[in-house]
Amino acid sequence: MKIRNLVLHRGSFTLDLPAVDFVPGLVHGLIGPNGSGKTTLAGVIAGILVPDSGNIDPEGLGPREMTMMTQQPYLMHTTVRKNLIYPLQLRGIAPDETKIRAMAARFGLEQKLEQSARTLSSGEQQKLSFLRALIFEPKLIVVDETLSNLDPDSASLFMETIREHQRKTPVTWIIISHQLVQIRAICDRVHFMEGGRHLAEGTPEELLLHPEVPAVREFLASTEVSFGSS
Ligand SMILES: Nc1ncnc2c1ncn2[C@@H]1O[C@H](COP(=O)(O)OP(=O)(O)O)[C@@H](O)[C@H]1O
Ligand SMILES: [Mg+2]
Repeated sequence: MKIRNLVLHRGSFTLDLPAVDFVPGLVHGLIGPNGSGKTTLAGVIAGILVPDSGNIDPEGLGPREMTMMTQQPYLMHTTVRKNLIYPLQLRGIAPDETKIRAMAARFGLEQKLEQSARTLSSGEQQKLSFLRALIFEPKLIVVDETLSNLDPDSASLFMETIREHQRKTPVTWIIISHQLVQIRAICDRVHFMEGGRHLAEGTPEELLLHPEVPAVREFLASTEVSFGSS
């Protein structure tokens, strides 16, 4: 995903990105203060928001090969199972029952497949939305703060699933999160945004442990996160 000269106005806010690259096959973290434009950029990448000008090169990816997990999972008024297999139906792929059971079991949803999705707890809804995003084997996955609202065990499960997925079939992930310890643990690249601009990019070590850009340093200082002694 290559972004060039992108401008998008939303009220008084302007997303202004001269050049941002999300190298395919890597796990990218997208961090920055509230209101910096992370969700807006995610919307542009997912094709939900149309920029006023500029260029987005999806590098061969079709719109049906991308998916986005939103902050508030959007679930249909039907069972967990039907929500889960919806992306497959949309693409005319027959669901594989063994795979569905295995995925659901791993995320503690096996006994809830026939339950109404709206009756799940918020953590369970996040899990369902995560599984639904993975089920059709997309090539680009945007995760907007889904990891932020999970308990530690569930967050570890999500991270382990992402790592495993990358070992088997590397795809492009763009993970928006304020959980900087998690970002450091799973990302190959980290991007920092502020005020609608992309101000810095690097490896987790470069960006989170040895930030050169003053705005990144200030942001990290304000988050009170500790990465330990390394
Ligand atoms: N529908 C909208 N109309 C006007 N302004 C909006 C709209 N949606 C978001 N914004 C503004 O765009 C800016 C960036 O928002 P957002 O991308 O959600 O930031 P982040 O995800 O980094 O917290 C904010 O100032 C927000 O108020
Ligand atoms: Mg946001």
